Amino acid sequence: LTLALSALALSISATTAFASCESGEIVAKLSHVTGGTTHPKVVAANNFAQRVNDEMNGVMCVEVFPNSTLFGDSKELEALLLGDVQILAPSLSKFGSYSPKYGVFDLPFIFKDMDAAIRFTKSDAGKGLLNEMHDVGFVGLGYWMSGMKYFSANKPLIAPSDAKGMKFRVQTSDVAKAMIEAMGASPQPMAFAEVYGALQTGVVDGQENTWSNIYTQKFFEVQDSVTETNHQLLAYLFMTSTEFLDSLTPEAREQFLTIADEVTQAANEEVKAAEAANRANILEAKGKINTLDDAQRQKWVDTMKPVWDQFEGEIGADLIKAAAGS
Ligand code: LMR
Repeated sequence: LTLALSALALSISATTAFASCESGEIVAKLSHVTGGTTHPKVVAANNFAQRVNDEMNGVMCVEVFPNSTLFGDSKELEALLLGDVQILAPSLSKFGSYSPKYGVFDLPFIFKDMDAAIRFTKSDAGKGLLNEMHDVGFVGLGYWMSGMKYFSANKPLIAPSDAKGMKFRVQTSDVAKAMIEAMGASPQPMAFAEVYGALQTGVVDGQENTWSNIYTQKFFEVQDSVTETNHQLLAYLFMTSTEFLDSLTPEAREQFLTIADEVTQAANEEVKAAEAANRANILEAKGKINTLDDAQRQKWVDTMKPVWDQFEGEIGADLIKAAAGS
């Protein structure tokens, strides 16, 4: 009976997941790790699915699986290569095992704000990086900005030295690890889906993320406060596989790429407003935000910026210069 019930549950969830796909349509699964309704990645992924489902009706159908429900951080890139999923939008900080060059996006204080980061992604250097993993079988469709990042912890962090001896969850990025070490703290790489529990149970003391992630994952509820450090960018590579793209007819491919491009432009135009709204949502939900004056912020810059030198060899001085000058 248990077996029959779980088979039934499986078939129900499969039907729900593919409710909008008609037989004969190419099904493209889009898997990602964020959640809620106000997160910029959630909005962009849903817009993409909506547009493909409307405009390519009968040819292709996109199904979105948010919140690590299909694949989480540790499995999604392999799953894309295996053809178990067709579209992803992972953070650029999660490609360390494929290319060290994306580390440029992780360098602390390299982008003044998201506008500078967007300018970089539109430059020749930024566009060149889009297909950095072509040999692996990955195709970059566009960069989706998520936001600047802020530290949260179980005690107020005003100076970087306040973090001494503490443990911070980081994404799987060598630059992020070096940055935390520069603060005299210890980095703990961890999948996104595990962060809330790790903060709640004290496995780690803090983390760094955007307003949208801190709000939609409710990290602020299990932290003392968030400090407006603005120290790093979070952005995504909206991507597919060479195998999937090559399997499409030239017409379908062109339509798919055009929609991908238009959705990317629109997402990046709306991201600042989404971040501001989620910052306000945190305050409204009684989360605490520590702001920094110029002198306080300069201490964070002085502590973290030396990390650039450690990565100049693998990222490349020219690339760093292009990003910093954007
Ligand atoms: C994280 O792991 O903190 C982020 O990359 C999650 C996301 O996709 O925004």
